[in-house]
Amino acid sequence: MTQLTVRRLLIDLEAPVPRHWCGGDAFLTAWFNALSMSFPVGEQFFLDSVRRGFKALPPEQQARWDAEVKGFVGQEATHRRIHALFNAHLERQGLVNGWEGRITARLAPLEQADPRHALAITAANEHFTALFADWLLARPQVLAGAEPRLQTLWLWHSAEESEHKCTAFDLYQALGGSHAWRVTWMRRVALLFMLDVLRQTAANLRRDGTLWRWSTWRSGLRHLLGRDGLLRVSFAPWKAYFRPDFHPAQHHNELSERWLQDHADVLAPVGTASVAPAT
Ligand SMILES: [Fe+2]
Ligand SMILES: [Fe+2]
Repeated sequence: MTQLTVRRLLIDLEAPVPRHWCGGDAFLTAWFNALSMSFPVGEQFFLDSVRRGFKALPPEQQARWDAEVKGFVGQEATHRRIHALFNAHLERQGLVNGWEGRITARLAPLEQADPRHALAITAANEHFTALFADWLLARPQVLAGAEPRLQTLWLWHSAEESEHKCTAFDLYQALGGSHAWRVTWMRRVALLFMLDVLRQTAANLRRDGTLWRWSTWRSGLRHLLGRDGLLRVSFAPWKAYFRPDFHPAQHHNELSERWLQDHADVLAPVGTASVAPAT
């Protein structure tokens, strides 16, 4: 048995955030800022999807899922709240969140659809966040120059994403979701996610006045496509999602566990939920 713990993060998000908070790197700052802009509405969708999926389970199965769903919902609700605080700083800096409106418009029709569609979309996004988390947790140098409280914010979120990466996937399977729809949604999510994150990153850089600097592009190419870059490192594990026998637990998350253990001083647990190990 493993545990899904809901944790409050003991950092001060009242103090202003410097414009290039990620070690003075304009690209990395704009990229992380873009991701953060998608979280309040995106993570609300994830937790709503999991809640709806839970309600669609036969009553005799709900007891087995109850604790895990509460843990997932609690973690995502905490993430979205904290990122909304962080995003308020970005707004004060003059950045404009165009991504949020696009997500809201795109997801609206799903409210009336079979809940497995929303769960498949959530599972696809959770695979993305887990891959990003693995990449970030394994490369402390990416956030090395960032303020300690913002390092903590991103690594805590990453660690918890890695921790709960199976929930939406398992619920989708428990509801009889098909492989064909799972991979169909992954294709759509992957395309839209990449277009949206790059578009919002470019918009942030344009507002910042750093879009056309050589240093911005050098950092972007290095961190995304370089030998140790996110897209290059994550491509093979991303493709694994298309295998019929794929399960998120096939990829271990010991860095996440270690980070959470090593940073207990900035985390205040508010509840735990038991999670049966994936078979
Ligand atoms: Fe999250
Ligand atoms: Fe998540």
